[in-house]
Amino acid sequence: MYTINDKVAIITGGASGIGLATANAILEKGGKVLLADYNQEALDAVTRELKNKKLPVEGFVADVSNEDDVKNMVGAAVKAFGRLDIIFNNAGIGVLAETETLTFEDYNNVIKINQDGVFFGCKHAIPEMKKVGGGVIVNTASILGLVGQQGAFAYNASKGAVNLMTKSLALEVAPQNIRVNSVCPGYVESGMVNKEALGDYYETLVARHPIGRIGVPEEIAHAVVFLIENEFMTGFNLAVDGGYTAQ
Ligand SMILES: NC(=O)c1ccc[n+]([C@@H]2O[C@H](COP(=O)([O-])OP(=O)(O)OC[C@H]3O[C@@H](n4cnc5c(N)ncnc54)[C@H](O)[C@@H]3O)[C@@H](O)[C@H]2O)c1
Repeated sequence: MYTINDKVAIITGGASGIGLATANAILEKGGKVLLADYNQEALDAVTRELKNKKLPVEGFVADVSNEDDVKNMVGAAVKAFGRLDIIFNNAGIGVLAETETLTFEDYNNVIKINQDGVFFGCKHAIPEMKKVGGGVIVNTASILGLVGQQGAFAYNASKGAVNLMTKSLALEVAPQNIRVNSVCPGYVESGMVNKEALGDYYETLVARHPIGRIGVPEEIAHAVVFLIENEFMTGFNLAVDGGYTAQ
């Protein structure tokens, strides 16, 4: 089993939701974490809280759609902790709009963050992983990278790309002892997905999950840890979705 203890991980979109839950899970296993996010206020607050608990955490402000930011983020992790073993490319946004009315700006923004952000994270992490004899990449895709949803044209495109980029890269870097997998969450309680924000639509989303509820970030974090630890897993798109894609 791959041991997380003493390994160094970068988590993008680390200030909230799935990213933050995964940071907590990796810290519990003895890992060291650089949290990256473009929301400086939220990032500062969570980094402060974790540092107050004497946990090995650094915060870094980065917009994953900006390659220089991502390059500097990798440099900051190596500077802070001496090496890089794990990257969880998790930052993402969602835009719902019918294709006829979807602006190119909104479409492109989703692609830039959800897809280009994963490309930049992988590209700049790999050289550091090679230096330490291997590593693990986990990308956050979505059930909407596996099946379509009405009104999710750009999001479907970006997450579908993440799933196949994951498989492509897994083949490329397997000889270097670097594993690459993606996690495909069903709907998960978050800043955007909750009863207050969604009203009646929340129950519509719940009904699409055979298990009768949506997930919580800790359930996705658990799967990410599994993908990191299991040394026979690579090139896989793991749905963690309460049965959503079983239908
Ligand atoms: N919540 C869901 O239902 C769900 C389902 C499937 C997949 N996902 C995916 O999970 C990932 C995490 O989302 P979440 O549910 O935890 O939502 P969230 O909104 O709680 O967290 C996302 C974090 O990413 C950050 N972020 C967004 N764009 C960024 C950028 N350009 N650069 C740096 N940071 C950026 C945000 O500031 C936020 O802290 C996303 O990729 C999302 O698409 C979420």
